[in-house]
Amino acid sequence: MASIRFESVRKVFGKVVAADDVTLEIKDGEFMVLLGPSGCGKTTLLRCLAGLERVDGGRVFIGEREVTDLAPRDRKIAMVFQSYAVFPHLTVFDNIAFGLKMQDRPRDEIKRRVAESARLLELADFLERYPAQLSGGQRQRVAVARAIVMQAAVLLMDEPLSNLDALLRLQMRAELKRLHQEIKATTIYVTHDQVEALSLGDRIAVMQNGRIVQCDAPMQLYDFPANKFVGGFIGTPPMNFLPGVVRVSDAKPVAVVGEAQIAPSAAFAPALALKNGQPILLGIRPENLVLTSSPQPNTIRARVLVVEPLGSHKLLTVQVGAEIAKVSVTPDERVAPNDDVWLRFDPEKIRWMDASTGETIR
Ligand SMILES: Nc1ncnc2c1ncn2[C@@H]1O[C@H](COP(=O)(O)OP(=O)(O)OP(=O)(O)O)[C@@H](O)[C@H]1O
Ligand SMILES: [Mg+2]
Repeated sequence: MASIRFESVRKVFGKVVAADDVTLEIKDGEFMVLLGPSGCGKTTLLRCLAGLERVDGGRVFIGEREVTDLAPRDRKIAMVFQSYAVFPHLTVFDNIAFGLKMQDRPRDEIKRRVAESARLLELADFLERYPAQLSGGQRQRVAVARAIVMQAAVLLMDEPLSNLDALLRLQMRAELKRLHQEIKATTIYVTHDQVEALSLGDRIAVMQNGRIVQCDAPMQLYDFPANKFVGGFIGTPPMNFLPGVVRVSDAKPVAVVGEAQIAPSAAFAPALALKNGQPILLGIRPENLVLTSSPQPNTIRARVLVVEPLGSHKLLTVQVGAEIAKVSVTPDERVAPNDDVWLRFDPEKIRWMDASTGETIR
């Protein structure tokens, strides 16, 4: 097993800075997710770790060993690539055995290790088949089995579920989680699917433009996004951002949002540093807005535009002043389009953000 460390890693392609001073430490046995929009540098970071790209600056460590200048084969890494390819002319057995055969392992050992990987990925009954005779999910599992059979200390997976339909993704997600609990290899898993990231990661590193903007445990990231980008990227629907202005009277700040005044929670110490007239964004998740039928303290008036019954909850689109917000309510909430409602804010759940930078104030 092994920990991983990126130290100020930089990778440039022409004018594009694909990895911009990335520093990240992944603990032995940890499941780290790299999450971010297309082109933010996720694959590049994996390839720098695997030795498939030379870094332009910084250093990479696996355990205590610096691997920055080592050839890929000397890094003891197994990788499932974004556009995974299983060999169509080889059986499942030979696909999984491929890397071991390249290493000239004894036949008995190959048989034993392929059988073990096939068991873990539930492929034992398919070893004699060819990829064309498998479902998409089974082919995907062959690609993962081929990587884990190498028993590398570090397992890299680049969007391994991207080719699957929604239901299969859901199944494979749970299977990968179980697999990790069993083999405990230090894993870096790349995805741009935030649900997958929340579900799988011990921690999630959110990337934007080649940088890591926040690295935290899933619920910490969800509840305390470091900025508007993270709050908006994580969660379906994403966090709402309501613009307001700070008003301070008697040293007590409130956010004025339309005609409502929202007071910070007592626990929000940075409130004391807010300045009169300062533009502010209130970040609040759809499930943390509560409907009330009459105005109360910390409520704001809204007009219901759309009601979507989604089974486990109802999703409302509402107009708050000039803004559109999403509100998640229980399925039995009686509400209809054009209703006037009040939204109650739990001050504990509001994230105050600087309107100009989008950074969470903390
Ligand atoms: N070989 C290359 N030559 C030139 N530019 C590259 C190369 N590889 C990546 N890039 C650029 O570097 C940036 C990061 O690319 P990367 O593949 O790491 O993104 P990603 O986060 O994996 O995106 P996706 O989710 O679409 O796979 C992009 O702007 C991409 O166009
Ligand atoms: Mg990629």
